[in-house]
Amino acid sequence: MTGNSKTLFGVSLVGSGSATPAQRITNDQLAARVDTNDEWVKTRTGIKERRIIGEGDSLSKLCVEAAKAAMEMAGWGIDTVDMIVVATSTPDDLFGIAPKIQSQLGARNAVAFDLTAACSGFLFALVTGAQYLQNGTFRRAIVIGADQLSSWMDWDDRSSCVLFGDGAGAVAIELTSNDQNALIGFKMKSDGSRGECLSVPQKKEFVNLVGSFKNQIGRFSNIQMNGQEVYKFAVREVPLLLKDVLGKHGITAESLDWLLLHQANQRILNAVADRFSIPESKVLSNLKNYGNTSAGTIPIMLDEAVRDGRIQPGDLIASSGFGAGLSWGVALFRWHGKT
Ligand code: COA
Repeated sequence: MTGNSKTLFGVSLVGSGSATPAQRITNDQLAARVDTNDEWVKTRTGIKERRIIGEGDSLSKLCVEAAKAAMEMAGWGIDTVDMIVVATSTPDDLFGIAPKIQSQLGARNAVAFDLTAACSGFLFALVTGAQYLQNGTFRRAIVIGADQLSSWMDWDDRSSCVLFGDGAGAVAIELTSNDQNALIGFKMKSDGSRGECLSVPQKKEFVNLVGSFKNQIGRFSNIQMNGQEVYKFAVREVPLLLKDVLGKHGITAESLDWLLLHQANQRILNAVADRFSIPESKVLSNLKNYGNTSAGTIPIMLDEAVRDGRIQPGDLIASSGFGAGLSWGVALFRWHGKT
């Protein structure tokens, strides 16, 4: 699915926020549980530590904190928010957490719903939210990306447990004129035929209901991942899609200010950047502190770089989310934040 700038209105990214759990677990600490070591994890992934939701935290709380920070940066009154989209695969409630977040924020005029697209979730939600503004339906939206994959991890499987962490990030977007449109282009893709290389499938457990009728118990497995297949998928598909979107909009890789990829593995980030000869200095990475927070990675990274002044108003950013589904997407946007 492709998008372009031929819309009724434009969308502007005007605020960002993020929140991560207090509990911090280093590679060395994990090595007390599984047969791993700091050197292996750092070299193969770039990760040094991750944040894990503990007893005092919850995913919804992190989302509320991130959304508040984004709204504060945007300078919005809470009653002016029309929509809240929460990208997550790990809600506190299977029916969705967006309405709870809406209520905790006091955003009584906002419609709120969840969207699931795993590690592509934030990018898909940003594009989804932008559509409502670009067609003039809504004026202001908060897009949140957040996950708590720590709850779905086999903590005795060293090949996956070292990779993931928890966290939430949010972006405030608002309607603007078409000539100010900051979402320059996007493309999103899905391929369910390769979905089994990264999934959290429902368990096939049935119990007797009445007579010979049975029903399935609502339980899910831990994360099941073929790391090498996912790696190959990411380093093949992301550059192809990025090239496609850049070409469609006549934008050269040299003119990008930042490459903001889903933070899965530093080697994936480097491989994608290398294909376009994008220097390391333009590749945003905070993997070492958080690992892969799934839908949280892109907005957490964006917020960090906006707040420390690396990303400046007007900067051109190429972003890509990729992961389970399989799903992947690219968005080209300019940061218009009021920092
Ligand atoms: N610590 C120490 N050794 C480990 C280890 C760990 N945490 N995890 C795996 N190993 C071992 C393996 O058992 C294997 O040992 P062997 O050679 O004796 O069989 C060896 O390290 C190499 O394993 P391999 O799977 O080939 O490593 P890799 O270089 O492919 O790296 C990943 C593994 C998971 C880091 C890498 O494939 C990856 O990042 N894939 C993408 C995963 C991802 O991003 N998923 C989310 C996408 S949204």
